[in-house]
Amino acid sequence: MCGIIGYTGQRPAGQIILDGLRRLEYRGYDSAGIALFDANHELYVARAAGKIDNLISKIEGSLPPAVSGIGHTRWATHGAATDLNAHPHLDPAGRVAVVHNGIIENFEALRRPFVERGLAFSSDTDTEVLAFLIADEIQAGVDLARAVQNVVAQTQGAAAVVAICCDEPGRIVAARVGNAGGIVIGHGDGERFVASDLAALLPHTRRVTFLEPGEVADIRPDEVTYYDTAGHVIAKPVETQPWDPVAAVKGRYKHFMLKEIHEQPDTALDSVRGRYLTAPHRVEVEDLPFTAEQVRDFNRVVLIGMGTSMHAAMVGRHYLERYARIPAEVDNAAEFRYRSPVLDPRTLVISVAQSGETIDTLAAMDEARRAGCPQITICNTPGAQTTRIADATVYMRAGPEIAVASTKTLVGSMIALHALGLHLGRLRGALDAETSRRQVEGALHLPAAIGETLLLEPRVAELAARYAAYEDFLFLGRGLSYPMALEGALKLKEVSYIHAEGYAAGEMKHGPIALIDERMPTVAIALRDEVRDKMRSNIEQVKARRGRVIAIVSADDVSLDGIADDVLRLPEVEPDLSPVLTAVVMQLLSYEIAVERGADVDQPRNLAKTVTVE
Ligand code: M6R
Repeated sequence: MCGIIGYTGQRPAGQIILDGLRRLEYRGYDSAGIALFDANHELYVARAAGKIDNLISKIEGSLPPAVSGIGHTRWATHGAATDLNAHPHLDPAGRVAVVHNGIIENFEALRRPFVERGLAFSSDTDTEVLAFLIADEIQAGVDLARAVQNVVAQTQGAAAVVAICCDEPGRIVAARVGNAGGIVIGHGDGERFVASDLAALLPHTRRVTFLEPGEVADIRPDEVTYYDTAGHVIAKPVETQPWDPVAAVKGRYKHFMLKEIHEQPDTALDSVRGRYLTAPHRVEVEDLPFTAEQVRDFNRVVLIGMGTSMHAAMVGRHYLERYARIPAEVDNAAEFRYRSPVLDPRTLVISVAQSGETIDTLAAMDEARRAGCPQITICNTPGAQTTRIADATVYMRAGPEIAVASTKTLVGSMIALHALGLHLGRLRGALDAETSRRQVEGALHLPAAIGETLLLEPRVAELAARYAAYEDFLFLGRGLSYPMALEGALKLKEVSYIHAEGYAAGEMKHGPIALIDERMPTVAIALRDEVRDKMRSNIEQVKARRGRVIAIVSADDVSLDGIADDVLRLPEVEPDLSPVLTAVVMQLLSYEIAVERGADVDQPRNLAKTVTVE
């Protein structure tokens, strides 16, 4: 949840770290801080509650000409969002500085001996004790890398820890403990970077190394030494990442969310490229290690994810059942892991996670691994932890997503799941040529259809102006549109703080209908499909109770004109792929309403882009 950046080299570290913090701010924005070595090799530390701008105003003009240091942007777990709780944290002598992402579950027990020695902690965090412990080790003559290793060995929980010490300016030690808290090392020419995620490194280098759980990196400008859990030196490869640094910049857009909504024709194009083939029409998903025989042997699929990724999984369930004829179910990853699920080696587990670092999803994947399940993960982040656990990764191909609200990664994951369903269906012999042709052609048309959907923006903005003052919304859908009703409600509450509920429309009469009156508008997804007539009845029921209705309908469908208060007409699309277009129009609606209400679209309160704590 928190963002970490560190630099050691010859260039001004302060500016590099502040720029990195800006790129990481989406991970957490309760407070931020920086620690640098000043000209006397003493620590210069600045911390401020609130967003990075607060930190920048606080330090204006006072940055020392340091060439090494670390920075942190926080999403609070232990202790309120105050200056004192902001990272970096120091030992009592101010010689060791530590930043941390994750939770140290046994921090109180670790603190106790220091309190008994009469030492005072200046924060309420679980992080500060790490600085105390590392300083104690160094005091006893232990080298910084070994000190960090010894200290993380005493911690319980999952975390990423980065430490520096005045004794050796220019040296940074980073450790990854458990699944939470990724660490990536960036390699430059005579300089090295460390960060919690790739986005912070992209302006500087695409040559990176990811730490696995339990590993430690001892980072100096010219070299990095890696240690495994047992403390043995290990060799790790340098990988070259394909992401374009420009993709992580807002450009002409007011918000990252809007930019990312507008990037979706490209996401669709990248997602279909090389996978959806013609003459003959077929789908081939790259790098799947399973033979046709293994695929035929799968007797069940379990899809897992959280938030928007779970909604993508719900759509994916339809694709797996329709095209591959495998019984498929979807579970919220956080529920799945504690339910003692019934799994076996013939159950294919498919996880969806744009970050690939969501703790609930990682823990659920661990559970599946213990049961011997084959696993595929749908992920957007090269090298993320989910990609290391799964047997195979199907990438969302969406490029860096910075806004906290997921948009283009939803589209990337739904297309990846559509492709996966068709690929597995072909291998299982469950797919007929006509379905294959229709779906391939439908997917190849998606980039253009998304482009057309984006033309609805002025109309959506006009609706947003009229609906922004409502405090409650209902979203209804059936079949493939049901997950999109959940998604529409999630997106609206996330970015505009409006209370919104998503329901399977058939459920409405069983309770939610009691909420309907003129103060609660309904967004009804009523596309031309096998459940459209039922949706129409639901809309009539809302209207009969004086509810306002915004209907999302198919191209040229005028049957709800005059019944719904407002109609948004989607372009023509293959019906199985309609959730992609519905998602786009609802993203626009949430965005425009949030802007209308003056909400902080890219960094909504209380949220973080990557959820690495339970
Ligand atoms: O990185 P993941 O896809 O695993 O993230 C899962 C959720 O935290 C995420 O989809 C969240 O719900 C988004 N903020 C929704 O816009």
